[in-house]
Amino acid sequence: MIISDRMAEALKNGSMVRKMFEEGIRLKAEHGKGNVFDYSLGNPDLPPPESFINGLRDAVTGGEVSGVHGYMPNGGWPEVREAVAAYLTETNPGIKVPFAAEHAVMTVGAAGGMNCVFKAILDPGDEVIALAPYFMEYRFYVDNHGGLLKVAETDDRFRPVPDKVLAAVTPRTRAVIINTPNNPTGAVYTASELKSLGDALDEASKRLARPVLLVSDEPYRKIVFGGCAAPSVFEAYSHSIVVTSFSKDLSIPGERIGYAAINPAMEGAGELSGALVLANRILGSVNAPSLMQRVVKGILKDSAELGIYEGRSKILADALTDLGYELVRPQGTFYLFPKSPLEDDLAFTETLRRELILAVPGIGFARPGYFRLSLCLDGDMIVKSLTAFAKALARAKA
Ligand SMILES: Cc1ncc(COP(=O)(O)O)c(C=O)c1O
Repeated sequence: MIISDRMAEALKNGSMVRKMFEEGIRLKAEHGKGNVFDYSLGNPDLPPPESFINGLRDAVTGGEVSGVHGYMPNGGWPEVREAVAAYLTETNPGIKVPFAAEHAVMTVGAAGGMNCVFKAILDPGDEVIALAPYFMEYRFYVDNHGGLLKVAETDDRFRPVPDKVLAAVTPRTRAVIINTPNNPTGAVYTASELKSLGDALDEASKRLARPVLLVSDEPYRKIVFGGCAAPSVFEAYSHSIVVTSFSKDLSIPGERIGYAAINPAMEGAGELSGALVLANRILGSVNAPSLMQRVVKGILKDSAELGIYEGRSKILADALTDLGYELVRPQGTFYLFPKSPLEDDLAFTETLRRELILAVPGIGFARPGYFRLSLCLDGDMIVKSLTAFAKALARAKA
C-alpha cells in the first residue's frame, strides 16, 4: 500500500457529512434536483453581500500596488492585521487590553487556523478536550499534530458542563475546544456559561501548573437569532483564542479566508502569535490568500442576509415539532439537531434517504440518537420536504 496506515484508517472513517454530500449528487442525478431535499452539507447558499463583490472588483482593478502579488509576512498583510485588531477591539468593548496587529493572524479559513493553533501548542501525546456533540473534523486537526482528542459530554440541551470538562482533564491536557454558535446543535453559549468554563479552566491550569488554552471556534458568530450578539470568550478567560472565518457569514467558504485572534490579556500572547505565524508557513499554506485578505479588510462588519437562516430555522423547527419530532430550538447557525425517532440514528437517516431527504446521523458528531439538518436550501424546498418528513416519521413509528 502506498499510503500510510494512519491515512488508510482516516480514509475508512472519513467524514459522514462528505459521504452524504456525494450521495446527494448521485440522488439528484437520478431523481432530478428539485426532488431531493439536501440537508446534508453546511455549504451556505446565500449570495455574498454586494460589498464583497465590489471589494473584489476594486481589489482586482483598483490600481496596481507594487508587490501586492508577492510573498508577505506569514501572518498576513500588516494593514489587514491592524484592521482586524481594530475591529476586535471595537466589537469586544468589555476587554481591558486592546488588540494589536500581532494578536490577529490571517489564516486559510477556520480549518487552517485550528491547524495552526494545534501545531503551535501540541507535542505528541498531548490532549485536547472537545464538547460533544462536536464538529468531527476536530479529531483530524488534533491528530495532524500528534494530539489526542478527548470528549466531555454536554447536557441533554447541549449546554456545557464545566464539571465534566474538568473530569476529562489529565496531565496531558493542553486545550479545550468549544464551538459557539454550535454546529450541529445551534446552541449559543451565554456569558455566564463561558465564565463558568473559564473558571473551570483556571482550576485546571492551577492543577497542572501551566495554562490550559481555551480555543473557541466561531465561524457562525454572526449567525445568531433574535438580534442578540454571541457572548465573547475574551472576557471569560485570559488564555483564550478565537478561530474564525468569513466562510459562513459572507457565504464564501471556497475562498478560504479567516483568522485566529489571541486574547491580548494572555500572558505569552506574543510567543503564541509567533508560533501561529510559523505554523502558517511550515504547514504549507505560507499565508492566507492575499486577494481575500485585501477584500475582507474593508468589509469586516458586513455579512450576507443572515436573517434568512433564522426564518428557515423557525419554519422547519415549527413544522417538525407539529409533526411530532422532538428538538431543542437553536439560538443561531443554520442547523437543526432533532432527536432521532429511532434509537439507531443511522437507520433513521436511511429512512429519511428513502424519502429523498439527506441528513447526517448524530453519530457523525459523537452524539448518537439525533440527526443534523443543514438549512442551506431555499424555503420552498423546506416546505416541499415536510410531507417526506411526515412519511419518514410514520415509517419509523410503524
Ligand atoms: C464548526 C465548524 N468549524 C470550522 C469549520 C470550517 O470552516 P472554514 O470553512 O472557515 O475552514 C466549519 C465548517 O463547516 C464548522 O462547521
